[in-house]
Amino acid sequence: MTIKSILRVGDPLLRRPADPVGDPGAPEIRQLIEDMTDSLAEAGGIGLAAPQIGILRRVLIFKVPDLRASTLPEDGPCPLTALINPVLEPVGDLMALGWEGCLSIPGLRGEVPRHLRVRVTATTPEGEPFEMVVAGTRARVLQHEVDHLDGVLYLDRMTDFTRFGFVEEIFEAEAARRQEATT
Ligand code: NI
Repeated sequence: MTIKSILRVGDPLLRRPADPVGDPGAPEIRQLIEDMTDSLAEAGGIGLAAPQIGILRRVLIFKVPDLRASTLPEDGPCPLTALINPVLEPVGDLMALGWEGCLSIPGLRGEVPRHLRVRVTATTPEGEPFEMVVAGTRARVLQHEVDHLDGVLYLDRMTDFTRFGFVEEIFEAEAARRQEATT
C-alpha cells in the first residue's frame, strides 16, 4: 500500500501532457494503478489521473458512487475502473453545467460546462479494448480526468467565475437560494 501525495495546482507537472502507455500489462503500470487506487482511497475523490501523483503516463481511475450518478441511461453507479490511453469523442452537441472539484485544487468547486455524452475508447489493465458511451456523471468525471492527461485543469474550462469558490461558501449560498425558492 503506497499512498502518494497529490500534486496541487501550481505544480508544473500538472500542466504537462502525459505520454501514452506502450505496454498496459507492464509491471510499472500495474504498480502505478495500485498506487493511484491507494492514493484516491486516502484522498476520498471519485477520480484520479496519473499526473496528479507526478507520473506523466496516460492512466486514469474513476468511479461513480450511487449518490452521484444521474438518471441518464448511459450513466449510473460504477465501481472503481482503471483506463489506459483513454480517448474521448463527444456524442451529440448537448453540453451540461455541473459542479466539479479536484484533488489538486482542494477545498474549491467550480461550475464547468462539459459534453453531456461522450464515447470513451481505452485499454483495460488486462490489455483488453474498452469502448462505451457514457453520460452525466460518468461523462463528466472522464472528461475531467482525461483533461489532466493533457495538462488541462477544470479551471481552464470554466466560463463563469462567479460560479467558483470554497465548498462551504458555495453550498451555503445554494442552500439559501433553495430556501428562498421554497418559501
Ligand atoms: Ni482533478
